[in-house]
Amino acid sequence: MTERETWATRLGFILAAVGSAVGLGNIWQFPFKTGTNGGAAFVFVYLLAALLIGLPAILGEFVVGRRANINAVEAFERLKHPAWTVVGALGLLTGLWILSYYSVVGGWVIRYIFGSATGAYFGDAAGYFASVSAGWEAIGLHAVFMAVTAGIVAFGVEDGIEKATKLMVPSIVVMLVGLAIYAFTLDGSTAAYSYYLSPDFEYLANNLGSVVPFAVSQAFFSLSLGMGAMITYASYLGDDDSLPADGSLVVVLNTAVGLLAGLVVIPLLFVQFGGVPDAAAGGGAGALFVSVAQVFADLGTAGQALGAVFFAVVLIAALSSAISLLEVVTSYVVDNYGYSRPATAFGFAGSLFVLGTLAAWNTAWLTWFDTLAYSVLLPLSVLLGVVFVGWVYGPQAVDEIKKGTSGGETFATAWLWSIRTYVLVGVFVTLYLGVTDIYAAPPIPGL
Ligand code: PFF
Repeated sequence: MTERETWATRLGFILAAVGSAVGLGNIWQFPFKTGTNGGAAFVFVYLLAALLIGLPAILGEFVVGRRANINAVEAFERLKHPAWTVVGALGLLTGLWILSYYSVVGGWVIRYIFGSATGAYFGDAAGYFASVSAGWEAIGLHAVFMAVTAGIVAFGVEDGIEKATKLMVPSIVVMLVGLAIYAFTLDGSTAAYSYYLSPDFEYLANNLGSVVPFAVSQAFFSLSLGMGAMITYASYLGDDDSLPADGSLVVVLNTAVGLLAGLVVIPLLFVQFGGVPDAAAGGGAGALFVSVAQVFADLGTAGQALGAVFFAVVLIAALSSAISLLEVVTSYVVDNYGYSRPATAFGFAGSLFVLGTLAAWNTAWLTWFDTLAYSVLLPLSVLLGVVFVGWVYGPQAVDEIKKGTSGGETFATAWLWSIRTYVLVGVFVTLYLGVTDIYAAPPIPGL
């Protein structure tokens, strides 16, 4: 067996993990899910979920990955618990499922790079979104996004992924801060801040059963959990790294980018619509596109260039996340069956392209794909991982957490107890509520 690659530097790992985490989940999804789930009440639960459930869960995946030093599926065999391979397999499936429609939204972003450059949406931002988000053009751009993702994965861990993510995080933060400040100066944005930042606890109490599972699953999606991505990335990690330090950094940066995106999108929606409009008018999946598109339109010629740059940066964020999804399955097949990396990456990308055409054809399908991932696949996959790492692998997991962390004993013990108790319960409740939600209102188009 050939020696496995490891990250050239600790920074390489952090950047890749942050690159995986920061993506459309933060920039596209978080703001619109906030808008459709009660504003600040959702933000409040999301923050708790990211910190109290997301952080322990990401550490669990790091433990499995670094300890096993192999892809997410075989990891469990290598840890001498082959029955739990089902966790890795479910993660793989969840990741494939998500990538199939993630790529469709990636295609929209590509469309908006060109749409900005030519000023195509400057006359009617909401109408433009409605016309390009579904149909043949969306299918074509979905193909382009998938092909680029496969191309990067084909070049391998160091060449493709490390390089692509180095510039993305700083540039996305700079651009979002600029846009947030600009939005703040516009007439009509003031009301957005209390909507976004001051939780309506009465709303929360009345809608607990939907806000909680959405917020917890959003944290999983956003942190790339339950898909083997963090297991796979951590498998390239050396023993001298501190998992708690790395995990905390990823959670903090990822959460900050989501919050910033909300600070851009929500005020801009208030400026244009006096509030968050319903999905058909641009408050749902179109929120990011419609809100910032209007800013660039208002800026005229300068807006064409700025818009193109903005969406190009969003594209890099989307790609670095999509790469991590594809990397999980590719590394499994390459490690295990000896197929070539390029053939494997393009083979999967092709199949997922076909599956995703449904979502590219009709946004109702896209919503359905997303709902299934949120309500069932993600919480189920994370739940099984948490049970494994807490109750099955427990003491050895504690050893792994302590490695490379000075004075990590207390933290590691606290981590184990959180995983065994409230994290487990929290994820279980999320899954339960998600399943009952789907059962009560099946989101299948036409039903
Ligand atoms: N975390 C990414 C985002 O928020 O856009 C999406 C994602 C990437 C999810 C990789 C899962 C994953 F394995």
